[in-house]
Amino acid sequence: MRALAQGPTEPLRPGRQVPGVRLPPDPQHTPRAALGPGARDPRPGPPLRGGTDGGRRCVRDPVPDLHSLPPDRRQGRLPPGHRGGGRHPGRPVEPKTARCGDTPAPGRKEDPCMAEVLGYVLGPTDDSSVEAYTTRQPWPLHGLVRVQVEGGWALGQVTSTQADRPELLRPDQPDAILEALGRLGDPKGPVVFKARIRLLEERATPVPVGAMVVAPEWEDVKGHFVPGDPDRAWAIGVIRGTEAVAPYVPDDLKDRAPILEPGRPVTAAPGVPAMIDPDDQHQFPHIGIFGGSGSGKSVALRVLCEQMMLSRHPGVVLDPHQEMEFVRPFPDAGAWGRSYANRHEVATVGKDVAIDWRELSTDMVRRLLASAFGEQEWSPNMDAAVGLLHQRKQSLQTFRDRLQVARSNHMSEEQQAGGALEQLRQQHKDVADMGRQIAPLETLQAIERRLNYLDRLGLFSAGKDAARWALDTIRNRKLAVLRGPGRTLEFVGQYVLQALYRARRAYRDAVEQGIPPAGPAVPPFWVVADEAHQFAPRNPEVRAATRGILTEIAQEGRKYGVYLALATQRPALLSETITAQLSTKLVLRTVRAQDLQAIRSETDLDAEATRRLPYLRSGDGYLSLAAQGRTLPVRIRAPHTSRRSQDSAWKELDQMVQADPLPQHLLAAVTQQGGVKPTGMGGLAQLLSRDLGREVSLDELAAALDELAAAGQLVRRDTPFGPAYELASDPDGGDGSEESSADEVMEEVPF
Ligand SMILES: Nc1ncnc2c1ncn2[C@@H]1O[C@H](COP(=O)(O)OP(=O)(O)O)[C@@H](O)[C@H]1O
Ligand SMILES: [Mg+2]
Repeated sequence: MRALAQGPTEPLRPGRQVPGVRLPPDPQHTPRAALGPGARDPRPGPPLRGGTDGGRRCVRDPVPDLHSLPPDRRQGRLPPGHRGGGRHPGRPVEPKTARCGDTPAPGRKEDPCMAEVLGYVLGPTDDSSVEAYTTRQPWPLHGLVRVQVEGGWALGQVTSTQADRPELLRPDQPDAILEALGRLGDPKGPVVFKARIRLLEERATPVPVGAMVVAPEWEDVKGHFVPGDPDRAWAIGVIRGTEAVAPYVPDDLKDRAPILEPGRPVTAAPGVPAMIDPDDQHQFPHIGIFGGSGSGKSVALRVLCEQMMLSRHPGVVLDPHQEMEFVRPFPDAGAWGRSYANRHEVATVGKDVAIDWRELSTDMVRRLLASAFGEQEWSPNMDAAVGLLHQRKQSLQTFRDRLQVARSNHMSEEQQAGGALEQLRQQHKDVADMGRQIAPLETLQAIERRLNYLDRLGLFSAGKDAARWALDTIRNRKLAVLRGPGRTLEFVGQYVLQALYRARRAYRDAVEQGIPPAGPAVPPFWVVADEAHQFAPRNPEVRAATRGILTEIAQEGRKYGVYLALATQRPALLSETITAQLSTKLVLRTVRAQDLQAIRSETDLDAEATRRLPYLRSGDGYLSLAAQGRTLPVRIRAPHTSRRSQDSAWKELDQMVQADPLPQHLLAAVTQQGGVKPTGMGGLAQLLSRDLGREVSLDELAAALDELAAAGQLVRRDTPFGPAYELASDPDGGDGSEESSADEVMEEVPF
């Protein structure tokens, strides 16, 4: 790009030839000059895009030089008698069309040099944005425009707009902007409309002052917004502000982004579809959706999942709200509604699928037990003991038996002798022979408490092995939707993701090294999660079994074709390491100051867009595409499917009571702590609130504890400070050496 000799912001001089920005030999020949100052064209103005010549001007017309106008006209005031109002009817001049008869460029529908002039750049300008003015009509926010630049045209988007009546605000001063516009050919009008326009691509030099701003051509727009192979790309919504180009967008493209507005039937995209190209994924792998409650995150995630299923991309969906089901056509979507019944499978953890203990490697057992109560408390002693006790392909009961033998190593010989225990010691002689050096008793007890906790969450209950189920599902190119209560989903999710990611890595590595892979092909896959901050919290003190594997995928998944699509209403609470890797971000309505701050620092949203975030409608947002280096205002399309409707609210209530995870989690927590003291109620309520992802009040906790006591699972003991609860019995038929009192455990587990 050639720089302007006069310096970047200096206006162009008459007679100087710059391709695309040619200046007149004589300022008096400017179109506006033909009418004289203050003159109004009596003919009615054309519609914005109407007619073949109306409202258009040859864009190869010279750009008049503002500075070359005579001083009297520069200083001149506007004559009285201007009408107020937004749209001025006048069209000032007969367009100069001397060279407009050129043959249209290939691919263009019409003569490229005829375009409607929307306004003029008066500056300040820089290499990526300009300020443009007009008296004709308000600028459409987010509207697409072409800006005249040295050597041609640049596509831009209006990022903010203003209207001003200069004579009201500045009655004593001549208005330079109106004057300048008049000289450039804009009709006189008392209202000045100003727009800030961001160019979609940076320029080497600032845009010349005096340049025209005209309506865009579809060919330009297409080149910028439609991926090379639109059939492979995902139309996830419409670019807001592109209505003016809508008549030029091919129907099949518009048809792929049905838009839902409140109180109106679903319609095809009223503009340019917002597209994500999944083939960019190897470079810009992961997608993040941020937005407050009700902003449209789940709908957006649903739309992404539908696109995955349309493209036959497999994936694992962690679905804490039990809403990711794609069977029922969206009732308002009309002909766009459809079902993806055979493109996904749904399984509830702890019921349909669980962790098959026999499938766990020693390392996986370590990881599971470590994440049960927080990694920090996992000690090298525990790690070593699990290494000695765990044997591959053996059952959970065998592991428990071996643990019991190890514990009995701390008993006297008389206690060890006789009965079932002696038999067990015979059976696991290797453990018995190691004696006390396997681990101190407290270590073994701590391992057992962790194991009981996970068992009580239903992790090892009957059901298909979750990892095998998910692997089969993705091999069939389907989405594997895993649902279940908070922590259970987290543990099983971790287990599944670890297994699939390892399998995929091993497969890719083998293929890359030219070694025959050990098993059938493992496809690339997506990992989708709503409420992602719960699966990968930023605060390292908040435990989450899935944090490790999600971080690993965020950092290295790209190499293996494993990609994240995460939604969260609390970007400020999502792991920073992960947020930093989300190269495609959709930001929806956000009100909370802390989250706005996180969005400001972790996305490339400009100040204007960030300022608008609290006021967006549900489904509206900004799509920041690292692949294209730009941020687009979008409206997410209507989904094709909707979540299952409930038959009756009362049936739903019954199901809620049956499916309430509180008692199960409570029992697990009491096992973990070895009991509950009156002083521990607050901490326990907090722990449960976090586990279940909802507020658990002290009253609710007290009622639940009493219910468990009534059911014989806990024993209630009244103390001067309130009730205390203990486990009714050791669930594993303890051997009497169970020394760990509630107090001891309370000290071990900090709250
Ligand atoms: N793209 C959209 N188009 C039209 N309406 C939407 C769109 N996204 C969300 N909405 C409206 O907003 C509501 C809340 O959306 P939802 O995705 O459940 O929000 P969130 O998951 O962020 O809490 C939806 O029920 C719907 O009425
Ligand atoms: Mg939601």
